[in-house]
Parts: sequence; C-alpha cells; structure tokens
Amino acid sequence: MSLSNQKIGVIGGGRFGRAFISGLLKSQFSSKNIWASARSEANLSAIQKMGIRSAENFGDWISDTTLVLLSVKPAQIKGIIEKLNQMPLSEKTLIISVAAGTSISKIEKLLTKKCPVIRAMPNSPCTVQEGVTAICKGSNATKEHLELARVLFSTLGKCLEIDEVHFDSVTALSGSGPAYYYLLMEVMIEAGIKEGLTREQAVDLVAQTARGAATMVQNLNRSPTDLKKDVATPGGCTAEALKILEERNVPSIFAEAISKATAVAANLGKN
Ligand SMILES: NC(=O)c1ccc[n+]([C@@H]2O[C@H](COP(=O)([O-])OP(=O)(O)OC[C@H]3O[C@@H](n4cnc5c(N)ncnc54)[C@H](OP(=O)(O)O)[C@@H]3O)[C@@H](O)[C@H]2O)c1
Repeated sequence: MSLSNQKIGVIGGGRFGRAFISGLLKSQFSSKNIWASARSEANLSAIQKMGIRSAENFGDWISDTTLVLLSVKPAQIKGIIEKLNQMPLSEKTLIISVAAGTSISKIEKLLTKKCPVIRAMPNSPCTVQEGVTAICKGSNATKEHLELARVLFSTLGKCLEIDEVHFDSVTALSGSGPAYYYLLMEVMIEAGIKEGLTREQAVDLVAQTARGAATMVQNLNRSPTDLKKDVATPGGCTAEALKILEERNVPSIFAEAISKATAVAANLGKN
C-alpha cells in the first residue's frame, strides 16, 4: 500500500487541506492524482493555483479515489459523510479525518460503508513541513493503513501513533500549541523593541531562540527542566526573570489554559 499508488481526494481545501496538499506535492507526489473540494471562490481558486483538480462537487471522482482526507470543521463532518454515503465510494477507500474532537466511532457510525478510518491531529506548522501529527486507527483499518497515514503525514513533519483516548490532550498540546508559543514570542518581541531593538532584529532573535530551544530538547535527550537550570545561573539575569514568572504563577496559569483547551476539544465533535 504505497503512497505513490494512491489517488487522493481532499474534502475541505481550506488552511489545513492546502497545507496537506503542499506537503504531498513537495514530496514529489503527482499533482494528477490529487483533487480537492471547497465551496468559496477564494478557496477554490487557491486550490486551482496549486495545479490540482478542484471542485465544489466531487461526485464524479470519488469512485476513482483510494484515500479521502476529511478536512472540514467538526460541525460539517456529519453533512459531508451523509453526502459521501450517496456517492459511489468504495469500501476500500481509506478515510482520514483531521477534525478536532470527532471520534472514529462517530465517523464509522455515520458511514454506511465499512471503509477503513484513521483519525489524525496535525498542527499548523505542517504548512512549513515542521508540523507534528498524532494518528490512530479505527476498527476496519489495518496496520498497513496506519503505515500509509504515517508516511503521508511524515511529508508534513513528524508523525506519532497515539491512542485515541489521548486525542483531546494532543489537540490541546500540539494542535493549539503553536498559538501558545506565538503569544510568548509576541510578548518577547515587543519587550525587545521597547528596549531599543528593531522589530526585525527582535523577530530574528526570538524566532531563532524558539527553534534553538526546541532543537536542544529534541536532540540532546535532556528535559526542559534540566536545560533551564543550565541557563539560569543563580543570581543571574535568567534566574531573576524565571523567579518573577514563577512567583506570579505563570506555570500554573499555562497548565490551567491547557486543561481548559483539553476540555473544549472533548466537546468539539459532540453535535
Ligand atoms: N488549521 C490547522 O492547523 C488544523 C490543525 C489541526 C486540525 N485541523 C482540523 O482541520 C479541519 C479544517 O480546519 P481548517 O483550519 O483548514 O479550516 P478552514 O480553513 O475553514 O477549511 C475548511 C474547509 O472546508 C470546506 N468545506 C466546508 N464545508 C464543505 C462542504 N460541505 N463541501 C466541501 N468543502 C467544505 C471549506 O470551504 P469554504 O471555506 O470554501 O466554504 C474550507 O475550505 C478542522 O476540522 C480542524 O479541526 C486544522
């Protein structure tokens, strides 16, 4: 079940749908074997610019599609699957859903055919092939389907197999996670500008620092707690900055925010 043999349809050529397609195209997947659908003129024209087939209605192509990515908002999943049920969808077609909060069992129940289903939770850095995606498989999907999904999402960054029971936490950590870092970067950039740096200098310093810190955690096999100690010489400027953040409860505020995001993720697909 190799990636190059697939004929891929993307239902929902919005922000994530297009990030997914650009990852595929960058990995030399043939543009002839991808189609994508959207409704608005803006999204349809953005899809056309990628050199793939685009349509509002994809009924003509579905019978010749081996893998369908569902990349619509959770509230639209039910309507889309009801539409798919009316189409000549093969039972062999692999359905991959990236809809937050939408369980595999919900998708399997909505589908009138016993198609294999994979659930995935990617994040926005997939747009620059630096994303991370969690995947898990449904009752009709095999190890081979899971492996195909792993290969597919690896074109967009890292891909990890994680039990579905943890998907709301994954959504809160890595799905929403880029926004937490953007918030921190926003604050650091503005602080740098206030101290006299140009915006360009501050953005470069902050963005490269975020990348460097992430690479240290990934490549050195040391915990952030340990690495933080290395930077924070007692009495030095880093230690004083961390003292203020800890005294004002910034770590527990972050933990509370992540716990709230997990609870919201759990409710997203319950409609
Ligand atoms: N963006 C991310 O980084 C990210 C990360 C993790 C998971 N996700 C998941 O990915 C999914 C899509 O998110 P997004 O950010 O890409 O949203 P988005 O930009 O709003 O894209 C949704 C797309 O679905 C299309 N659509 C909606 N109803 C449709 C229908 N009936 N037929 C055909 N197309 C239809 C929309 O078309 P029009 O707008 O043209 O009407 C739009 O192109 C969500 O379930 C989200 O939870 C996204």
